[in-house]
Amino acid sequence: MSHPERVKVMPEIAAHALVNRAQYDDMAARAAADPDAFWAAEKDRIDWITSPTKIKNTSFTGDVSIKWFEDGVLNASVNCLDRHLATRGDQVAIIWEGDDPNESRHVTYRELHADVCRMANVLVALGAKKGDRITIYMPMIVEAAVALLACARIGAIHSVVFGGFSPDSLANRIQDCNSNILITADEGRRGGRKVPLKTNVDAALKSCPMLKSVLVVKATGTSIAMTAGRDVWYHEAAAAVPAECPPEPMKAEDPLFILYTSGSTGKPKGVLHTTGGYMVWASFTHQYVFDYHEGEIFWCTADVGWVTGHTYIVYGPLANGATTLMFEGVPNYPDTSRVWQVVDKHNVNIFYTAPTAIRALMRDGDAPVKRTSRASLRILGSVGEPINPEAWYWYSHVVGDDRCPVVDTWWQTETGGTLITGLPGAIDQKPGSAGLPLPGVKPLIVDAEGRELHGATEGNLCLADSWPGQMRTVYGDHDRFIQTYFSTFPGYYFSGDGARRDADGYYWITGRVDDVINVSGHRMGTAEVESALVAHPKVAEAAVVGFPHEVKGQGIYAYVTLISGEDPTDDLRRELIIWVRKEIGPIAAPDEIHWAPGLPKTRSGKIMRRILRKIAANETESLGDISTLADPSVVEDLVANRAA
Ligand code: WT7
Repeated sequence: MSHPERVKVMPEIAAHALVNRAQYDDMAARAAADPDAFWAAEKDRIDWITSPTKIKNTSFTGDVSIKWFEDGVLNASVNCLDRHLATRGDQVAIIWEGDDPNESRHVTYRELHADVCRMANVLVALGAKKGDRITIYMPMIVEAAVALLACARIGAIHSVVFGGFSPDSLANRIQDCNSNILITADEGRRGGRKVPLKTNVDAALKSCPMLKSVLVVKATGTSIAMTAGRDVWYHEAAAAVPAECPPEPMKAEDPLFILYTSGSTGKPKGVLHTTGGYMVWASFTHQYVFDYHEGEIFWCTADVGWVTGHTYIVYGPLANGATTLMFEGVPNYPDTSRVWQVVDKHNVNIFYTAPTAIRALMRDGDAPVKRTSRASLRILGSVGEPINPEAWYWYSHVVGDDRCPVVDTWWQTETGGTLITGLPGAIDQKPGSAGLPLPGVKPLIVDAEGRELHGATEGNLCLADSWPGQMRTVYGDHDRFIQTYFSTFPGYYFSGDGARRDADGYYWITGRVDDVINVSGHRMGTAEVESALVAHPKVAEAAVVGFPHEVKGQGIYAYVTLISGEDPTDDLRRELIIWVRKEIGPIAAPDEIHWAPGLPKTRSGKIMRRILRKIAANETESLGDISTLADPSVVEDLVANRAA
């Protein structure tokens, strides 16, 4: 099917949009000419206890120091709760839709405020203090949002670990930030199945002596083990504390949260975000990117365990006084019409999801969508990976009935919120392109030597200057922060992505240029999967690469060399897949395992991943130069035995 390459701004959207093209151009010009003046004005979208006088103080060279609004004082939970009570205390803050279609909950701002205060008081009673790291390992229930905000209220730093991660992954993250308190639930629910969160916690805590208290929310009511002196039922503790809790005054640069994310090497990094800049960025981007209007119902389908959930389920929408929808389930349960039924049930106006979900739903055809009305929908968003034009048009045409703009949003855990997008009332969409930089964002493309390339070009995507939502450091390892993001191309923040810029200045993300795989919009480090594989007693060596996958975007392709004497059987293949699921979590499970008697290595012993990626993608005609390999015959063998 052929589609237009440019989809014009819809006049009916532009007529009521917060920002039209002229306004976007004006904002971008002002933000570029005088960042201090621009952000001094934008900071007022947030309530400050002490309003900052210093605005931007950032450097991408030397020790790299990023400070925004540094003499300001605020509390993030106050911005999401207290400040709304007078005007919209009885408005719904969170609509919770259960995994079971018969279960939903509406929580007003006043109720959410009381719940957050109660949990904050419980945390204080457990000994929590400002600056403590509190780990959150929760299902998608209202108490997950309450937990984030309760930490923010008392100045504790939350570290959310996605509920799909294994006990080992949870333990590593607890140890890395030396967390003393953990908030979890008895069990989670997803697609009719149970997730044994508390059991995973018990396994993880065997190697976490620093963790002293576990606060357990009763979600399903299943029977679980409680360890005396360590584990506390939330409902019991909450009944004993008041529903008022004074907010801790936080300096703008005091940490708000840590979120672990995968890189090309080593263990996941603790991305650290601070309070003032992040809140300004969350509010600014949520409002403009989605053209959010007062009273609208906003649904971001992410899990709170990812940054998308932090910024666009919790902090952005609640800072802006929106109604945010939290969905416990999955898109195809009980059937493939579920997402659109939820849209109709709760009159969702703005819907934000990932291309992988769109492609999965697309495979089930138009009927499950067309059975529903979707008349409430106004704006559709996409995030996590490049959206292929085919999926873009299906989303726009079948889901949006050609009347809802589709906004792609490029960003990362590190960026706090969206950086590149097409504002729905201002910018013509080019399906497959992320769009243009938001005001105050300065992308640039550099070649392999770090030279800036101008005009229409392709290369490595960097940012030339800071924006308020930028991460400040890697928790406990500022050198790693400098090394990872500022050393490849000195003077710039390097995203790890490749991008093309067209003649109109639109950015087209071409994918990661490092050893990170983007599986269903989630980042997985190849090194992490490799170390899980080699931890298996029968594996001698492993090399992991990404390969094109119809639904996931990229799949995980693992080359495995067994120790001598071990047979490469289908049983062992299944065993290794289950092994990786257990070691890291289901999202890390290899899609393909390729038995490799040897791996292509240079004479100095470096694995040539370029060749492995080609073989995985079945592009064996274009392997390129293999003459530098220690043993070129290894490649012939791999090509001959490529997984079907
Ligand atoms: C990586 C960041 C941002 C929240 C979700 C993922 C890829 C993200 C897009 C997009 C093309 C995208 C990039 C980026 N990515 N959004 N709209 N178009 N690629 O956050 O886990 O930190 O992953 O996701 O490769 O570097 P994350």
